[in-house]
Amino acid sequence: MRMRRKKWARPELDACAWVVKDCDRYRGRWRTLFPKDQPLHVELGCGKGVSTCEMAWAERNINFVAIDISTDVLGVARRNIAARYGAESVDNIRLAVKECTLIGQTFSAGDRVERIYISFCNPWNQRSRHKKRRLTHSRQLMQYRDFLVDGGEIWFKTDDDALFDESIGYFMECGFEIRFLTRDLHASGFSPNYVSEHERMFSEQGIKTKFLIAAKRSLAAAPDLLKRRRRAAPDMTTLCYIEKDDRCLLIHRNRRESDGNYGKWLGIGGHFERGESPDECVLREVREETGLTLTDYAFRGVVTFVSGDWVEYMYLYTASAFEGELTGECDEGDIQWVDKARMKDLPMWAGDRVFLRLLEEGCPFFSLKLTYEKDELIAVELNGRRQG
Ligand SMILES: C[S@@+](CC[C@H](N)C(=O)[O-])C[C@H]1O[C@@H](n2cnc3c(N)ncnc32)[C@H](O)[C@@H]1O
Repeated sequence: MRMRRKKWARPELDACAWVVKDCDRYRGRWRTLFPKDQPLHVELGCGKGVSTCEMAWAERNINFVAIDISTDVLGVARRNIAARYGAESVDNIRLAVKECTLIGQTFSAGDRVERIYISFCNPWNQRSRHKKRRLTHSRQLMQYRDFLVDGGEIWFKTDDDALFDESIGYFMECGFEIRFLTRDLHASGFSPNYVSEHERMFSEQGIKTKFLIAAKRSLAAAPDLLKRRRRAAPDMTTLCYIEKDDRCLLIHRNRRESDGNYGKWLGIGGHFERGESPDECVLREVREETGLTLTDYAFRGVVTFVSGDWVEYMYLYTASAFEGELTGECDEGDIQWVDKARMKDLPMWAGDRVFLRLLEEGCPFFSLKLTYEKDELIAVELNGRRQG
């Protein structure tokens, strides 16, 4: 259930010395934010911090970073922690607002994280394409591997059987060994266990807590991963501008402040599923996000995005005919027909304006490379030639 807006949350977080603002700045330097250099544990999706404050209070020889995507929820966590610590200084907890599917932007190997906690994350069971948003999905685990030390652990709790069973597969696939597993944590005698808000809620309904500890095997111990890592490195996506008369169908990414594209207007598209061709991917993405079936479309070019370690190859399409009705049910933002003449006034990535201009000018099939430094476009190459 969505929490009601808490107007006080943002100002209180802003004023709090142990809340880390603009947290990606500390990538590789998290240990410097604590007065004592001691093991670093990270909690993803900490919610209201009910177990965080008990755990950190009991384990003062550990430094904790607790992260949640929601400012309102983290505001409650801050209050709970402040109440637990009372007059004592909160010296071993730091809080941060962050979308955990992008956590690789926040931590690096230099942070030497020794343990990650994931408790009662969203199971994303309704649609199979949403499973990749799970905080235990292989895509996530490969990010965690980058900043978790060899032998470092992930402690994972859930009420959800399907999520638990499938997560075991993700852990095995990503070079983790399962060190402990129980389908009834409270009957298992495992200690110490700090009960989270959702753990208590589900227990009261008679739903058992499934729990496992997975330890990261080193690359030397899991050599298959090297191959997988190389293969999985770049993101592969499609993007389509669907045109009708003088209008173009765009999505306004306005659902979550932590979305890397938050506030921007984009074409319709998304990631490839395994084994899909670009055409299959774009048709599926358009159908899933808009309800429309493209009947006339063209592959116009390939865009290579580079920003630091991140690489994405995007297959760019335009479409001029479709069947079906616009459903407008997209959980990433509002989908709207926009007058083409108005598009230049909308907030967009600088690089998107470059390929939109090429499309509008009818440029033959092209290869465009866009290099960003953080959010700033710093280089453009068209068909191998540096522009500007
Ligand atoms: C069901 S609650 C669990 C909270 C707490 N761990 C517990 O066990 O009670 C899930 C929490 O994860 C947060 N969350 C969901 N998706 C997230 C994401 N992608 N990144 C960061 N936090 C996320 C939500 O805001 C919410 O507070």
